[in-house]
Amino acid sequence: MSQIKFTLNGKSVAIDSNPLRRLLDVLREDFKNTGVKEGCGEGECGACAVLLNGKLVNSCIVPVGAIDGSEIVTIEGFRKTERFKIISDAFAEAGAVQCGFCTPGMIMATEAILSQNPSPTRDEIADGLSGNLCRCTGMNMIIEAVELASKNGGGK
Ligand code: FES
Ligand code: FES
Repeated sequence: MSQIKFTLNGKSVAIDSNPLRRLLDVLREDFKNTGVKEGCGEGECGACAVLLNGKLVNSCIVPVGAIDGSEIVTIEGFRKTERFKIISDAFAEAGAVQCGFCTPGMIMATEAILSQNPSPTRDEIADGLSGNLCRCTGMNMIIEAVELASKNGGGK
């Protein structure tokens, strides 16, 4: 066990944990951030994506010991922002949500894209979403949603 301190959605937190536990499990079990989903559990689908110091990571392949001192933002925290509203409205308008399982990870990926590049091309969007899989809509509607979010002010 070690003490691990980090910032979760703007709040300082500390846990005593085996440092090898998956960040995904810590977020879901210890902090009830159940918007962070488990899909593949192998770093392939993006359902568990969160922002780690502003960068998109798959929390199923990050050991919690590696995030000591870092800043984590999950969909639970991002949901409270104006940018979330712009992005989620764009997803709804573009018809990019069906079962919704991939959506939290897609929204975090969208934020990671637009915070770096407010007006991405379709190729840049596709590239930014390449680690996120959707089994329902196909990627075209999701790419359109990101374009729409960018136009609607989701970029900076
Ligand atoms: S559950 Fe983490 S990438 Fe699929
Ligand atoms: S909406 Fe179902 S997996 Fe994407």
